Amino acid sequence: MPSTTGPSLIDPFGRRVTYLRVSVTDRCDFRCIYCMSEHMTFLPKAELLTLEELDRLCSAFIRKGVRKLRITGGEPLVRRGIMWLFRALGRHLDRGALDELALTTNASQLARYAAELADCGVRRVNVSIDSLNAEKFRAITRIGRLDQVVAGVEAVREAGLAVKINTVALKGVNDDEIGDMVAWCGDRDCDLTFIEVMPMGEIDGYRSEQYMPLTAVRDKIEERWTLTDTDYRSGGPARYVTVAETGRRIGFITPHSHNFCESCNRVRLTCTGTLYMCLGRDDSADLRAHLRAGSSDAPLEAAIDDAIARKPKGHDFVIERAAPAVARHMSVTGG
Ligand code: 5AD
Ligand code: SF4
Repeated sequence: MPSTTGPSLIDPFGRRVTYLRVSVTDRCDFRCIYCMSEHMTFLPKAELLTLEELDRLCSAFIRKGVRKLRITGGEPLVRRGIMWLFRALGRHLDRGALDELALTTNASQLARYAAELADCGVRRVNVSIDSLNAEKFRAITRIGRLDQVVAGVEAVREAGLAVKINTVALKGVNDDEIGDMVAWCGDRDCDLTFIEVMPMGEIDGYRSEQYMPLTAVRDKIEERWTLTDTDYRSGGPARYVTVAETGRRIGFITPHSHNFCESCNRVRLTCTGTLYMCLGRDDSADLRAHLRAGSSDAPLEAAIDDAIARKPKGHDFVIERAAPAVARHMSVTGG
């Protein structure tokens, strides 16, 4: 297909792609029960893009109109030398070509990197916490230590960064803690987003047993807190309410019960340079081949245009199906 979109990336449904999520590793130091199986096979290191290649690819997207980058994984902070990439990408913030450089992390290493992330221009961090009970936290993550994660959240807050907590609603696991999560986030000036389990990649057990609709989460919150609907949108799938008592926002990401695709502004890059135009679809574009074909960026930019021209209208998640909707885990494309 010829490249036709020029400098800004507009898909066939008129949606402008301004947001690139970049998974810098498929590895993680946790094994959350809804995300991974206990024994995962990760990519051989040789398959990965180098940090320099990631920088070149992100810079090409920025030239084509991407205004926001989010570094995800796996767990991005376990990738060796990752601060070099933050530093390199931060230069686009300095020259006004990028509005935001954000991070999604499990916070296991966050305390160590908080000051440096702030220095690179990162202003916002999403942290995954599914339980505030140390034992339960360990059971959900199979490995994680809640105290380390909380120390990470506190360190980035002290460094002046905004924190949003992501919580996956898990039936029979964290449904008794939902009101407490709202309080905890209120006390620390963090926003909070609840996510429904999505059928991505094989895990041990059945996702339909973990699945809890966010309508039930909202009912639980309203037993203790006063919620007001808002029309605030972050450009993503979440719908937001505000909590009268804390003044903080709560987001709900409901891929099953609500179609969020019409306002989608994002695409996702894996650590091997594969671009996924939709989180819930298998179609992808291999940008690594174009990256490694030579030093000219023109073929790479044309390949990006061609990929955006194939962005599908929406995802195909159905939680009841036995097989995952997509074979890859969330840790491949980032959340
Ligand atoms: N369904 C829903 N959320 C998931 N995450 C990881 N795997 C899944 C899944 N299958 C979440 C993580 C993190 C975010 C990036 O995605 O908990 O908060
Ligand atoms: Fe790691 Fe995040 Fe997956 Fe948990 S949800 S295993 S922290 S990538």
